[in-house]
Amino acid sequence: MVAEKQNDLVEIKNLKKWFPVEKNFLDQFFAGRHLKHVRAVDGVSFTIKRGEAFGLAGESGSGKTTIGRLAIGLETPTEGQVKFDGVDLSSLQPEALRKMRRRMQVIFQDPMASLNPRMTLGDSISQGLKIHFPEQAATHRDTALSIMEKVGLTPPNYFFNKYPHQVSGGQRQRVVIARALITRPELVLADEPIAMADVSVRAMLLDLMVQLKKEYSLTYLFITHDLATAKYICDRIAILYLGQIAELGDLPEIYSHPMHPYTRALLAAVPVPDPHSRRTQNMPEGEIPNPIDPPSGCRFHPRCPFAKKDCTEIQPQLRELRPGHLVACHYADQFG
Ligand SMILES: Nc1ncnc2c1ncn2[C@@H]1O[C@H](COP(=O)(O)OP(=O)(O)O)[C@@H](O)[C@H]1O
Ligand SMILES: [Mg+2]
Repeated sequence: MVAEKQNDLVEIKNLKKWFPVEKNFLDQFFAGRHLKHVRAVDGVSFTIKRGEAFGLAGESGSGKTTIGRLAIGLETPTEGQVKFDGVDLSSLQPEALRKMRRRMQVIFQDPMASLNPRMTLGDSISQGLKIHFPEQAATHRDTALSIMEKVGLTPPNYFFNKYPHQVSGGQRQRVVIARALITRPELVLADEPIAMADVSVRAMLLDLMVQLKKEYSLTYLFITHDLATAKYICDRIAILYLGQIAELGDLPEIYSHPMHPYTRALLAAVPVPDPHSRRTQNMPEGEIPNPIDPPSGCRFHPRCPFAKKDCTEIQPQLRELRPGHLVACHYADQFG
């Protein structure tokens, strides 16, 4: 019997990841059960539908990368659950997890750091085939050449034998994209995939990712700190603040009816929501607080111009205030 495909490819429930703060042995001994933790991810729930591009946006340190790594089983949760195609990743034995992970690939931010400098581009791209399909060795080179063509590394025969330092930054990012797609994944985690690329090639890389998504029926978990980029590629988006979701919904809905003061501030800082523009955005006033000791009540209250007394005391829950549009703010109704 063939199992029915789940409409929700990824289901994340009450996900938490707390990292113990590094301390020396004596401090740890005396701190005992009061050992401090960085609450990198602190109770996050969302689903990613098959075929959609789901965005995670937020300032640096808000927990985006950690959620991405948890979503594809590179980290184990402190609490909560990640299901991929209906299967709880924590229930899988290492071999079964390895097989499952072929269906999820990653495009990291820094192509120079994620490519082996001593491997040719062709070998780097084919690596996943060697690991996951060793029995098809005879076809690996042709498969690599055809995916290289698809990502614009043409002529592929020329690029196959080059090394990372011999090509441009934009071309290296194409290599990373080709390497991720060669095993025909269903889910692609793209963690700030264009942040390190030259401004002049960013739009081209985004266009390529949009086109490949269609061609290979991919589902994206797309991480960015830049809302203009998110607008270009995402169907739905979650706005993260200090390890929690502040607001979540369809892209056009969030942009036309932002309800969380944090989202509103972020959007106000993007005057031209267009990745082709060279303007950079400013984040709201104030530092993002330390996730070791997050503020009481609403975590955004120290930076929120509308904060009232209960915002400092009661943590707001995510509520659906418009269809499919969830907001964690006591007073969001007044901003919609
Ligand atoms: N392995 C780790 N050990 C300790 N702290 C970590 C680790 N990974 C991330 N953190 C901390 O968790 C928080 C969230 O980090 P991260 O997920 O990388 O955020 P983002 O990708 O949004 O910048 C940060 O405060 C970061 O310093
Ligand atoms: Mg990150």
